[in-house]
Amino acid sequence: DFGPMTETGNKQSWAVGKKTVLCVGNTVIDYISVCKKFPRENEPNKCYASYWQRGGNASNNCTVLRLLGVKVEFFGKLSTSPLFGMLVEDMRKRGIIFDHCPRTEVDPPFSTVILASSIKSRNIINCNKDYPYVTYDDFKKLDLNEYGWIHFQARHPTETIRMMQRVTSFNKKKAKDDPKIVISLDFDKSPTEMWPLVNYCDYVVISRQIATLKKWETPLEACTSVGEWLRMRWGVNLKRPYVIFLWGSEGAAILDKQENYSFAPSYKLKKVVDSLGAGDVFMASLIYALYIRERPLSVAVDFGNRMGSYKVTNFGYDHLP
Ligand code: FRU
Repeated sequence: DFGPMTETGNKQSWAVGKKTVLCVGNTVIDYISVCKKFPRENEPNKCYASYWQRGGNASNNCTVLRLLGVKVEFFGKLSTSPLFGMLVEDMRKRGIIFDHCPRTEVDPPFSTVILASSIKSRNIINCNKDYPYVTYDDFKKLDLNEYGWIHFQARHPTETIRMMQRVTSFNKKKAKDDPKIVISLDFDKSPTEMWPLVNYCDYVVISRQIATLKKWETPLEACTSVGEWLRMRWGVNLKRPYVIFLWGSEGAAILDKQENYSFAPSYKLKKVVDSLGAGDVFMASLIYALYIRERPLSVAVDFGNRMGSYKVTNFGYDHLP
């Protein structure tokens, strides 16, 4: 269904007439060590490969959207430290727009990642203490006419809600037949803090960590609980978002606006080498299928699963179609 992009294989042409996708969030240096197993205290452990790459959820979303030929912009704080230059250079090389990013002198955030090949697992240590996040005042400077879809990573929900409110009032002022900016949310932090954001979203993608936190054992239980939360909201003109619940390597659940539940299984590929960022690949692929290719949600989620499953078969992102 997503086969050759065009007869000439030109990815760009699907995006003709589509506005830029904006991803709001963080970019970090991922320092990755590939080992056989996770280290144990006082036990020597050799890595057999190590490398760095640009990471962070919103930044990874941009990488994948760009690989899919989408005009995409990253919006997050960029450090002026020379070390951060590697990240900026990588974005430039790939054609990711970052013209409106505010700068900071704070040292860049980084993640230490261990990929353990024998158990096909990974561990991330986030070292981004005190790294500043984009504020509403930064966001206010953006010309919203440029964007067709805005995806929020929402590290700081109190700033993010004001950004979403700005987009919502911008949408309200648009003529009836003028397409509205679609808002999506990467819901991977404390539900108490994140929940108010849901009221402004068209799509909410919830990470499996939230299910673990809430002790929801099945995707059905998770979606039913979120469905109840959505029903219990009160206020005028509250948006009812589509909910996509990521269920790790098993796949993703969908709760549509009428509270119909369905589950889309992932694709089990034999080769699993690097699951870092598989969720970010899912997210970017979902946006691509919904926005650029205008596919129904079930097809978009299946495409997200395919891309996420394929991602883990190799290191990094460049093997993605
Ligand atoms: C993967 C990722 C990494 C980053 C970490 C931040 O999803 O974005 O690139 O180090 O998560 O939490």
